[in-house]
Amino acid sequence: MTLNFAHRGSLTEAPENTIPAFQKALEHGAKAIELDIQLTKDNELIVSHDHHFRRHNHEITGNIRDYTLEEIKEIDVGSGFDEKFAGTSLSTLDEVLDLCPSEILLNVEIKNIPVIYEGIEKILLGTLSNHNRLDNLIISSFDHVALKNVQQLNSDIPLGMLFYYRVLNAWDYANKSGLNITSIHPNQVYTDQTFVQECKKLGYKVYPYTVSNWERYEEMLNFGVDGVFSNSPEIFGEK
Ligand code: G3P
Ligand code: CA
Repeated sequence: MTLNFAHRGSLTEAPENTIPAFQKALEHGAKAIELDIQLTKDNELIVSHDHHFRRHNHEITGNIRDYTLEEIKEIDVGSGFDEKFAGTSLSTLDEVLDLCPSEILLNVEIKNIPVIYEGIEKILLGTLSNHNRLDNLIISSFDHVALKNVQQLNSDIPLGMLFYYRVLNAWDYANKSGLNITSIHPNQVYTDQTFVQECKKLGYKVYPYTVSNWERYEEMLNFGVDGVFSNSPEIFGEK
């Protein structure tokens, strides 16, 4: 059975990675949700793909790391998407955890690109623990050192290894990493049957990103993937 992730919530229908986007994903029946985290000046976890605000609001200069949570909550990230979302702010991870029921598989991606947030792993695990949300969870990152840091803090957490570029025998790299990798998350552009089968021989699940076209999705299913990250409600809400 495949399990598809609503990528940054339902980003075609609401500002990505915000509460309205996650609400939409849940309304579509998503069983798995992906989100990205960054750290504020006062070390609070904010859900955002970028380390800056420009995707949502061009008037805000600087980076998330330069602003406190209180300041960030004053920033409108909704009206650039659609006036009906005016006043929407970036969400804290706490807010998303309050929203998402425990039966939803949550994939928290530690961004750490290009800003390296020292200590983000400990803050993340503390937040997840406070919400009793250490199950039905995958922590992923392109920063494999961050994955190692998570494992050193809690060796029970399933880790997802993200790859942006093609890596020679990525499955062997994962296998030799010494990390508790349970899933490999490759860029869909180079995901093919060999890639999927080699990963699966080693027991890894494979979740390519981002697959929003139905024909490409069917190709992925034929390769044997366990699911995909998708922007398409038709795919992530598939029954
Ligand atoms: O986690 C899958 C995917 O979200 C990784 O790429 O750039 O969309 O965060 P990106
Ligand atoms: Ca992501």
